[in-house]
Amino acid sequence: MFEKPFSQACENNKRPILAQLEWAFANAENVLEIGSGTGQHAVFFAEHLPHLIWHTSDQVQYHQGINAYIDDSSLTNIRRPQVFKVGEDDFPVLDQNAKIDGVFSANTAHIMQKEEAEQLMQMVSEHLPVNGVFCQYGPFTHGGKFTSTSNEDFHNSLIERGYGGYRDIEELKAWATDLSLAKIIDMPANNHMLIWQK
Ligand SMILES: C[S@@+](CC[C@H](N)C(=O)[O-])C[C@H]1O[C@@H](n2cnc3c(N)ncnc32)[C@H](O)[C@@H]1O
Repeated sequence: MFEKPFSQACENNKRPILAQLEWAFANAENVLEIGSGTGQHAVFFAEHLPHLIWHTSDQVQYHQGINAYIDDSSLTNIRRPQVFKVGEDDFPVLDQNAKIDGVFSANTAHIMQKEEAEQLMQMVSEHLPVNGVFCQYGPFTHGGKFTSTSNEDFHNSLIERGYGGYRDIEELKAWATDLSLAKIIDMPANNHMLIWQK
Protein backbone atom coordinates (compact mmCIF):
# COMPACT_ATOMS: atom_id res chain seq x y z
CA MET A 1 0.00 0.00 0.00
CA PHE A 2 1.21 3.50 -0.82
CA GLU A 3 2.23 5.41 2.27
CA LYS A 4 1.53 9.12 2.11
CA PRO A 5 4.62 11.33 2.33
CA PHE A 6 4.92 13.33 5.53
CA SER A 7 6.79 16.50 6.39
CA GLN A 8 7.07 17.54 10.04
CA ALA A 9 8.01 21.06 8.89
CA CYS A 10 4.62 21.35 7.14
CA GLU A 11 2.83 20.35 10.33
CA ASN A 12 4.79 22.97 12.27
CA ASN A 13 4.35 25.85 9.83
CA LYS A 14 0.85 25.31 8.39
CA ARG A 15 -1.04 27.22 11.11
CA PRO A 16 1.22 30.31 11.13
CA ILE A 17 1.07 30.32 7.32
CA LEU A 18 -2.73 29.97 7.34
CA ALA A 19 -3.00 33.02 9.61
CA GLN A 20 -1.37 35.09 6.84
CA LEU A 21 -3.25 33.46 3.94
CA GLU A 22 -6.59 34.18 5.62
CA TRP A 23 -6.17 37.92 5.08
CA ALA A 24 -3.93 37.90 2.02
CA PHE A 25 -6.27 35.60 0.03
CA ALA A 26 -9.50 36.97 1.53
CA ASN A 27 -10.69 38.01 -1.94
CA ALA A 28 -9.02 35.26 -4.00
CA GLU A 29 -11.08 32.69 -5.88
CA ASN A 30 -8.46 30.49 -7.57
CA VAL A 31 -5.08 29.99 -5.94
CA LEU A 32 -2.31 28.12 -7.74
CA GLU A 33 0.23 26.41 -5.48
CA ILE A 34 3.66 25.99 -7.05
CA GLY A 35 5.68 23.10 -5.62
CA SER A 36 2.90 21.43 -3.60
CA GLY A 37 5.41 18.85 -2.28
CA THR A 38 3.78 16.29 0.01
CA GLY A 39 0.28 17.74 -0.45
CA GLN A 40 -0.17 18.43 3.29
CA HIS A 41 -0.32 22.20 2.87
CA ALA A 42 -2.79 21.93 0.00
CA VAL A 43 -5.44 19.94 1.88
CA PHE A 44 -5.00 22.02 5.05
CA PHE A 45 -5.32 25.36 3.28
CA ALA A 46 -8.20 24.19 1.06
CA GLU A 47 -10.07 23.01 4.18
CA HIS A 48 -9.53 26.28 6.03
CA LEU A 49 -10.06 28.64 3.09
CA PRO A 50 -13.37 27.27 1.80
CA HIS A 51 -14.18 30.44 -0.19
CA LEU A 52 -11.48 29.62 -2.77
CA ILE A 53 -10.34 26.76 -5.00
CA TRP A 54 -6.82 25.47 -4.34
CA HIS A 55 -5.01 24.27 -7.48
CA THR A 56 -1.98 22.06 -6.82
CA SER A 57 1.09 21.64 -9.03
CA ASP A 58 4.55 20.13 -8.86
CA GLN A 59 7.01 17.94 -10.70
CA VAL A 60 5.39 14.65 -11.69
CA GLN A 61 7.21 12.53 -9.08
CA TYR A 62 5.28 14.35 -6.33
CA HIS A 63 1.84 13.74 -7.79
CA GLN A 64 1.12 10.35 -6.22
CA GLY A 65 1.57 11.80 -2.74
CA ILE A 66 -0.47 14.92 -3.45
CA ASN A 67 -3.25 12.80 -4.97
CA ALA A 68 -3.24 10.51 -1.92
CA TYR A 69 -3.87 13.49 0.38
CA ILE A 70 -6.62 14.73 -1.93
CA ASP A 71 -8.20 11.24 -2.05
CA ASP A 72 -8.25 11.03 1.75
CA SER A 73 -9.93 14.40 2.06
CA SER A 74 -13.57 15.02 1.26
CA LEU A 75 -12.78 18.48 -0.06
CA THR A 76 -14.48 19.76 -3.17
CA ASN A 77 -12.39 22.96 -3.43
CA ILE A 78 -9.06 21.32 -4.24
CA ARG A 79 -7.77 20.38 -7.71
CA ARG A 80 -5.43 17.55 -8.67
CA PRO A 81 -1.81 18.40 -9.45
CA GLN A 82 -0.73 19.79 -12.76
CA VAL A 83 2.77 19.03 -14.02
CA PHE A 84 4.70 22.23 -13.52
CA LYS A 85 8.44 22.49 -13.27
CA VAL A 86 9.60 26.08 -13.55
CA GLY A 87 12.25 26.18 -16.25
CA GLU A 88 10.64 23.34 -18.24
CA ASP A 89 6.88 23.80 -18.39
CA ASP A 90 4.53 26.56 -19.41
CA PHE A 91 2.60 28.33 -16.66
CA PRO A 92 -0.44 26.18 -15.76
CA VAL A 93 -3.79 26.94 -17.35
CA LEU A 94 -6.75 26.16 -15.12
CA ASP A 95 -9.67 24.03 -16.26
CA GLN A 96 -13.11 25.46 -17.02
CA ASN A 97 -11.52 28.80 -17.87
CA ALA A 98 -10.91 29.57 -14.22
CA LYS A 99 -8.46 32.43 -13.78
CA ILE A 100 -5.68 32.33 -11.24
CA ASP A 101 -5.92 35.35 -8.94
CA GLY A 102 -3.58 34.11 -6.23
CA VAL A 103 -0.33 32.14 -6.15
CA PHE A 104 1.23 30.38 -3.16
CA SER A 105 4.64 28.78 -2.97
CA ALA A 106 6.45 27.53 0.13
CA ASN A 107 10.05 26.52 0.46
CA THR A 108 10.73 26.36 -3.26
CA ALA A 109 12.98 29.33 -4.19
CA HIS A 110 15.99 28.00 -2.23
CA ILE A 111 15.59 24.52 -3.74
CA MET A 112 15.41 25.81 -7.32
CA GLN A 113 18.47 26.72 -9.34
CA LYS A 114 19.03 30.49 -9.51
CA GLU A 115 17.73 30.67 -13.12
CA GLU A 116 14.58 28.77 -12.10
CA ALA A 117 13.95 31.10 -9.16
CA GLU A 118 14.35 34.05 -11.52
CA GLN A 119 11.88 32.48 -13.93
CA LEU A 120 9.46 31.74 -11.08
CA MET A 121 9.34 35.43 -10.20
CA GLN A 122 9.02 36.48 -13.84
CA MET A 123 6.25 33.97 -14.57
CA VAL A 124 4.17 34.91 -11.54
CA SER A 125 4.73 38.58 -12.32
CA GLU A 126 3.53 38.04 -15.87
CA HIS A 127 0.57 35.73 -15.24
CA LEU A 128 -1.08 37.24 -12.15
CA PRO A 129 -3.87 39.66 -13.00
CA VAL A 130 -3.82 43.21 -11.64
CA ASN A 131 -4.59 43.08 -7.89
CA GLY A 132 -3.54 39.40 -7.81
CA VAL A 133 -1.56 38.31 -4.75
CA PHE A 134 1.49 36.04 -4.51
CA CYS A 135 2.26 34.64 -1.04
CA GLN A 136 5.79 33.29 -0.96
CA TYR A 137 6.99 31.52 2.18
CA GLY A 138 10.43 30.31 3.09
CA PRO A 139 13.88 31.26 4.24
CA PHE A 140 15.50 34.19 2.44
CA THR A 141 18.41 36.51 2.95
CA HIS A 142 17.72 40.23 3.25
CA GLY A 143 20.30 42.76 2.17
CA GLY A 144 22.69 39.83 1.80
CA LYS A 145 22.31 38.88 5.48
CA PHE A 146 21.19 35.56 6.92
CA THR A 147 18.65 35.75 9.76
CA SER A 148 20.48 33.10 11.79
CA THR A 149 23.64 31.02 11.71
CA SER A 150 21.52 27.88 11.30
CA ASN A 151 20.08 29.43 8.12
CA GLU A 152 23.57 30.14 6.81
CA ASP A 153 24.61 26.54 7.58
CA PHE A 154 21.52 25.22 5.79
CA HIS A 155 22.21 27.45 2.76
CA ASN A 156 25.79 26.12 2.56
CA SER A 157 24.56 22.52 2.81
CA LEU A 158 22.08 23.17 -0.03
CA ILE A 159 24.85 24.53 -2.26
CA GLU A 160 27.03 21.50 -1.47
CA ARG A 161 24.17 19.22 -2.51
CA GLY A 162 23.66 21.03 -5.82
CA TYR A 163 20.58 23.10 -4.97
CA GLY A 164 20.39 26.82 -5.75
CA GLY A 165 20.40 27.98 -2.11
CA TYR A 166 18.81 31.00 -0.44
CA ARG A 167 17.68 33.89 -2.61
CA ASP A 168 17.91 37.46 -1.46
CA ILE A 169 14.68 39.44 -1.15
CA GLU A 170 16.25 42.25 -3.21
CA GLU A 171 17.05 39.96 -6.13
CA LEU A 172 13.52 38.53 -6.05
CA LYS A 173 12.22 42.12 -6.22
CA ALA A 174 14.40 42.88 -9.24
CA TRP A 175 13.11 39.78 -11.06
CA ALA A 176 9.41 40.35 -10.23
CA THR A 177 9.17 43.41 -12.44
CA ASP A 178 5.37 43.81 -12.32
CA LEU A 179 4.91 42.93 -8.65
CA SER A 180 5.33 45.12 -5.63
CA LEU A 181 6.41 43.67 -2.34
CA ALA A 182 3.57 44.80 -0.08
CA LYS A 183 4.76 43.11 3.14
CA ILE A 184 7.64 41.11 4.58
CA ILE A 185 6.37 39.14 7.57
CA ASP A 186 8.67 37.48 10.08
CA MET A 187 7.57 33.89 10.60
CA PRO A 188 8.61 31.24 13.15
CA ALA A 189 11.92 29.41 12.69
CA ASN A 190 13.57 32.39 10.94
CA ASN A 191 11.36 32.14 7.88
CA HIS A 192 9.52 34.92 6.08
CA MET A 193 6.26 35.38 4.27
CA LEU A 194 6.58 37.73 1.31
CA ILE A 195 3.29 39.23 0.18
CA TRP A 196 3.56 40.38 -3.42
CA GLN A 197 0.85 42.26 -5.23
CA LYS A 198 0.42 43.06 -8.89
C1 LIG B 1 11.40 21.63 0.12
S1 LIG B 1 10.12 21.13 -0.95
C2 LIG B 1 8.77 22.11 -0.36
C3 LIG B 1 7.46 21.45 -0.59
C4 LIG B 1 6.25 22.15 0.04
N1 LIG B 1 5.91 23.36 -0.66
C5 LIG B 1 6.50 22.43 1.50
O1 LIG B 1 6.58 23.59 1.90
O2 LIG B 1 6.63 21.45 2.26
C6 LIG B 1 10.58 21.89 -2.47
C7 LIG B 1 9.56 21.76 -3.55
O3 LIG B 1 9.97 22.58 -4.66
C8 LIG B 1 9.67 21.88 -5.84
N2 LIG B 1 10.52 22.37 -6.92
C9 LIG B 1 11.86 22.33 -7.01
N3 LIG B 1 12.27 22.83 -8.18
C10 LIG B 1 11.14 23.21 -8.84
C11 LIG B 1 10.89 23.81 -10.11
N4 LIG B 1 11.88 24.12 -10.95
N5 LIG B 1 9.62 24.07 -10.46
C12 LIG B 1 8.59 23.77 -9.61
N6 LIG B 1 8.77 23.21 -8.41
C13 LIG B 1 10.03 22.94 -8.04
C14 LIG B 1 9.96 20.43 -5.47
O4 LIG B 1 9.41 19.56 -6.42
C15 LIG B 1 9.36 20.36 -4.08
O5 LIG B 1 7.99 20.08 -4.10
